[in-house]
Amino acid sequence: MLRKAILPAAGMGTRFLPVTKASPKEMLPIVDKPLIQYSVEECERCGIREFIIITGKNKRAIEDHFDQFSELEEVLKQKGLDNLIEEINRHDESHFAYIRQSKPLGLGHAILCAKAFVKDEPFAVLLGDDIIDPDDTLLMDMIEIYRKYRSPVVALQEVPDDEVSKYGIVDGEPVIDFDTHNNPKQLYKINALIEKPRIEDAPSNLAVIGRYILTADIFDVLETIKPGRGGEYQLTDALNMLLSNRVVYGYLFKGNRYDAGDKFGFLKATIELSLKRPEFSEDLKKYVKALAGRL
Ligand code: UTP
Repeated sequence: MLRKAILPAAGMGTRFLPVTKASPKEMLPIVDKPLIQYSVEECERCGIREFIIITGKNKRAIEDHFDQFSELEEVLKQKGLDNLIEEINRHDESHFAYIRQSKPLGLGHAILCAKAFVKDEPFAVLLGDDIIDPDDTLLMDMIEIYRKYRSPVVALQEVPDDEVSKYGIVDGEPVIDFDTHNNPKQLYKINALIEKPRIEDAPSNLAVIGRYILTADIFDVLETIKPGRGGEYQLTDALNMLLSNRVVYGYLFKGNRYDAGDKFGFLKATIELSLKRPEFSEDLKKYVKALAGRL
């Protein structure tokens, strides 16, 4: 059983300045929920209830968000707003631990900070910038693959040529058609990973996106890697080294993902996830159509 998830949230959010100067990027709302809550709920749908959030400077709001707030509850109770009490307490069954990454030295370093809390268990890593369509089963599918093969699994998505240099890109070979929930998707055995290659150096258009199922042996590798691209300790470099010890799978995701750490991606996520909310859906559709007619 996979019980734990690491949510790295200590990055600087430079792509989203100025708002991220004093506020955590992870608390940017899509409608009424902060980005990080979408990741937490994705895990909870898969039965994961233990969260290790890697935080840094200016990230206090994340801790407050998942904590109890009895004064607010009291006010809501007096006003008869029981539905909102339920809403603010919806993660009560989950456990949250916070580890501070003293400097943003990279995603690999952020994950290593959780070593003592994860111990020997397999765990999920979710990057909150990547919002996966809440109706999709990506994480569940990855957990199924982990259960079957007992090997680490990273999520992949095909990206256009002009975006290859923004991602870790995979050199891999298809293993089998892994038919999950009657939705044919593909499994790859990874031969190598290259962090943010130029298109002419890229072995494919298969990009690693922000969902991973990892095993505890990644920590030993993370302890040995040197700073890589951008001077940061890169998870990609550690996974590449891990490949000499064991098989790592890539799972090609064909559903909708929004890069909400990017301003335009965030706008798209806001519109599309709002369209899925029953209370806004009809009005928003009418509005978007009317707006399109005026453009
Ligand atoms: P990103 O590079 O996408 O996020 O890191 P960022 O650094 O916050 O944003 P930009 O690029 O400057 O706009 C991927 C994930 O890894 C976390 C980030 O919080 C994000 O969830 N991260 C990154 C850390 O926790 N620590 C780090 O040192 C670096």
